[in-house]
Amino acid sequence: MHHFDLKDGALYAEGVPLELIADEVGTPAYVYSTATLKRHYGLLRAAADAHRDALGEALIAFAVKANSNLSVLATLAKLGSGADTVSEGEIRRALAAGVPSDRIIFSGVGKTDVEMAFAISVGVRQINVESGAELDRLIAIAAMMDTSPAIAVRVNPNVGAGGHAKITTGGKGDKFGVPVEEAMGLYARASASPHVTPVGLACHIGSQITDLAPLEAAFKVLAEMTRTLRSQGHAVTRLDLGGGLGVPYSGGTEPPSPADYVAMAARVLNGLDVEAAFEPGRLLAANAGVLLSQVIQVNERSDGRRFLVLDAAMNDLMRPALYDAFHDIQPVNPRVGARLPHDVVGPVCETGDTFARDRELPPLEAEDLVVFTGAGAYGAVMASEYNSRPLVPEVLVDGDQWAVIRPRPTYEEMLDREPFADWL
Ligand code: LLP
Repeated sequence: MHHFDLKDGALYAEGVPLELIADEVGTPAYVYSTATLKRHYGLLRAAADAHRDALGEALIAFAVKANSNLSVLATLAKLGSGADTVSEGEIRRALAAGVPSDRIIFSGVGKTDVEMAFAISVGVRQINVESGAELDRLIAIAAMMDTSPAIAVRVNPNVGAGGHAKITTGGKGDKFGVPVEEAMGLYARASASPHVTPVGLACHIGSQITDLAPLEAAFKVLAEMTRTLRSQGHAVTRLDLGGGLGVPYSGGTEPPSPADYVAMAARVLNGLDVEAAFEPGRLLAANAGVLLSQVIQVNERSDGRRFLVLDAAMNDLMRPALYDAFHDIQPVNPRVGARLPHDVVGPVCETGDTFARDRELPPLEAEDLVVFTGAGAYGAVMASEYNSRPLVPEVLVDGDQWAVIRPRPTYEEMLDREPFADWL
C-alpha cells in the first residue's frame, strides 16, 4: 500500500505531480510519501498494541540503515518510533531527528570502542552484544566510565532466511550473533559483571522474508532460551525480534501482513511477560519511496534489443546490481500503446548497471519520466557518486506540500570536498 497514484493520466506522490518535482529538482531524485510512512508505522503499531498482553509496551525501532534521511527519521520519531542503529553516525542521526535516546537500540557486528563509549554516553536503550570479544571490550569501557549499560545478547538461532544470500543473517555460518549455547554462557558472564546489565536477547535472521515459518522458528529459540535463563536465575525482560518482514515489490512473492506477523510473535511470546521490540526497516520505508528518473534515449539496436537508457544508474539505486532485485518501473505520464520488452540501463560504464532485462513496458520516448517503485528502503542510503555522478537528492511529500530534504550537490561542492595533497 502506498500513495503514488495516477490522477488524470499523470503519476502523483500524494497531492504533488511527480512531473513538477522533476521540473524543479531535476532527475534522478528520490521522492518519499509521508502518508505511506505514517500508514505503515500505524499498521504495525496497531498490531503491536492489539497484543499488549503478550508483547508488553512493544518498541518499534525503525532500522535507520533502510533510510537515514533526517526528515524521514523525524517523521517516524513524531509517531513515537524508536531507532535501530548500527553506527555512531546512525545514533547521531536518530538523536538529531528527535528519537529519544531510550528508544535507540545499538546493534552491529563490529562496534568500535569509540562507538560503544558514545552509545553509553548518550544513554541508548540497549546495546546488542554480538560476540564474547565484544562483551569483554564493552565491560572494560563501561568500567572505565563507571556505569552499567543495558545489553541484549544477539543470538544466531541457526535459522537463515531472506530474499537473497547477501541479506541472510541468521544462518549458522553468517557473521552475526552468537550460537545458542555460547549465548547462554555470555548471558551468565554478563550477569556476573557489575558493568553491564543484561536485559534480554535479540535476533535478526535476514531481510525481505516472505514466509513466517523461519521467523517463528527463530522467535521460538529466543522464547526457549528465556525460560532456561530464568530457570538459572537470570532476569530476561526484553526480547528484540529484529526486522526482516518482506514487502510486495510486485512481481515477487506476496509477504504475510504485518498483523499476521505480529500475531505470530504474540503467540510465541505469550505468557513470557517480556517487552518485545521490532526493528522494521524495509516494511516501513520501501513502498514509501520512488526513484524518479528521466529517459535519456531509447536505443533500438539492429539485433532487435531495445535499451531504455535512463539518467538514473546503479550508483543511485544499487539493489538490482547487487541483489538482482526487482523494482517495478512505471511511466509518470503513460502513453497509449503496446507493451514491449526493454533492457533498462543507466549511463554508468559497467554491464552491471542494468536495472532490468526484457522488462515489458509501455511505449517510452526520450525525456519521458519514469519511477522505480519500492525504492524508499535501501535506495538513497546505498547511493554513491560513482562515475562522479552527483549524489542523488531526496524529496519528501506530505499532502500538497513538498520539500527537498537532501539537495543534489553542485559540481563545485563535489570538487571542493577534496583538498589537493600539498605537494601537488
Ligand atoms: N535489524 C537488524 C539487526 C538488521 O541487520 C536489519 C537489516 C534490520 C533490523 C532491518 O531489516 P529489514 O526490516 O529492513 O529487512 N541492503 C539490503 C538489506 C540489508 C538488510 C540488513 N539488515 C537490501 O537492499 O535488500
